Amino acid sequence: MNQLVIVIDFGGQYSQLIARKIRECHVYCELLPWTTPAEQILAKKPIGIVFSGGPSSVYEENAPTVDPALLRQGIPVLGICYGCQLMVQLLGGRVMPAGQDSAREFGRTKTRYSPDSPLFRDLPAEGVCWMSHGDYATALPEGFAVCAVTEHCPNAAVQDPQRKLYGVQFHPEVRHTEHGKEMIAAFLKEVCGAAGDWTMQDYCQRAVREIREKVGDGKVLLALSGGVDSAVAAALIDRAVGKRLTCVYVDHGLMRKGESEEIEACYSVYQLRFIRVNAQERFLEKLKGVTEPEKKRQIIGSEFIRVFSETAGAAGAMDYLAQGTIYPDVIESGAAGGHTIKSHHNVGGLPKEIGFRGIIEPLRVLFKDEVRALGRELGLPEVIVGRQPFPGPGLAVRVIGEITQEKLDLLREADAIFREEMQRGGFASSADQYFAVLTNVETVGVMGDQRTYQRTVALRAVCTEDFMTADFARIPYEILAETSRRIVNEVPGINRVVYDITSKPPATVEYE
Ligand code: XMP
Repeated sequence: MNQLVIVIDFGGQYSQLIARKIRECHVYCELLPWTTPAEQILAKKPIGIVFSGGPSSVYEENAPTVDPALLRQGIPVLGICYGCQLMVQLLGGRVMPAGQDSAREFGRTKTRYSPDSPLFRDLPAEGVCWMSHGDYATALPEGFAVCAVTEHCPNAAVQDPQRKLYGVQFHPEVRHTEHGKEMIAAFLKEVCGAAGDWTMQDYCQRAVREIREKVGDGKVLLALSGGVDSAVAAALIDRAVGKRLTCVYVDHGLMRKGESEEIEACYSVYQLRFIRVNAQERFLEKLKGVTEPEKKRQIIGSEFIRVFSETAGAAGAMDYLAQGTIYPDVIESGAAGGHTIKSHHNVGGLPKEIGFRGIIEPLRVLFKDEVRALGRELGLPEVIVGRQPFPGPGLAVRVIGEITQEKLDLLREADAIFREEMQRGGFASSADQYFAVLTNVETVGVMGDQRTYQRTVALRAVCTEDFMTADFARIPYEILAETSRRIVNEVPGINRVVYDITSKPPATVEYE
């Protein structure tokens, strides 16, 4: 059993980020909603608790709260923003709305830290933190002292080292806070006594053992999408049960250039049974004449289930269905006890229809970065582990309007050129996702004194932490110029290339 830290989620936009930062410090962490009963939290024997931020004010009626008993257990607690205010209020201090020009602070804020606090002891005495609050503590509970101040906020961080209670008004989990991760690490190591025992090597060994115990001599079926999650799940289950794993890869013809071959080659080194279903024509046929984005998605989703079910049936009796579900999916689907944001299903509710003995989800507690680390631990190649997110409906949502073989081929070529130039220009790792889109815009051009009337390709590249919000990547002009030059020269039918400079929101990352 690993040491555990619990983050209690008060609905803050950065709650998952707090959990990820804690895991990056090699400390296992779970995110639980504030409605989780205190007994349930204590039964997990956490070595520390973090109260997250949240959109409410502690003095509002029905504001989210916790059983104050959590603060009396001798378990270290770190309150962040709303969590800090709640701790102060629950212990008898006072929290007030800040006046218009006084302690309200949003964004980058210069802060002075006290070296007397274990959170800041090894850090520079001054730095920039990320503030986002309209309330602040005006009177501290007994035993508390101030350990950081800003120009407008006299209680930017507070502490009661005797009771191991700490509160910060700012957000150490966001990257705009200088040394924020070190502050979290200091809380974990210095205050909670964390040993940093959460490593992918241990996780890998334990997961393999657990899969073997569960599966016994049964057979496992896994739908491979070509994405990182299902690839890592496959490698892990292969290590556990080898030949008794069958992987089905449905090639819907909507993958990028060379992608299906890369995926197939990657699995040739494993013992598992790999079935590639070439269903390109089936999908194209179903998509004929369809222009509406949601309709495209529905068609692809249900055709995928149909092809997968047929293949699974033909592959023989299987006992378990494996899925590459990861922790953010579990949190979002409400299975961790939170609100349901979207119902997660990797393969469209297959288990109910096919009748497996059980489901195996070996990545259920991992964040994306950890899945990649586990993939590397398992020896998966970088082309798979470092893969960008790719939508399930594939290029169908990157060809605007009706999908045809000809358009898909054009897009594949343009996209491959963009990827090559991003690599060659050394910018590939500076964008979190980048791709080409075939728009349905045709415009006039001139090539070799001839008038052309051809299609426009849009290039999209974004920088983001979680894909919920994103900014367009500041790609050097040289890379854009070379990509554009090559696309119009090498891809017949394209005479114009544009670069998308919209953030999300208001745009989304994908076009459909
Ligand atoms: P949007 O377009 O919603 O994309 O801003 C955010 C991220 O999600 C990916 N995406 C999808 N992934 N199935 C997926 O598995 C989908 O239908 C889908 N649509 C978007 C997108 O590539 C981006 O990384």
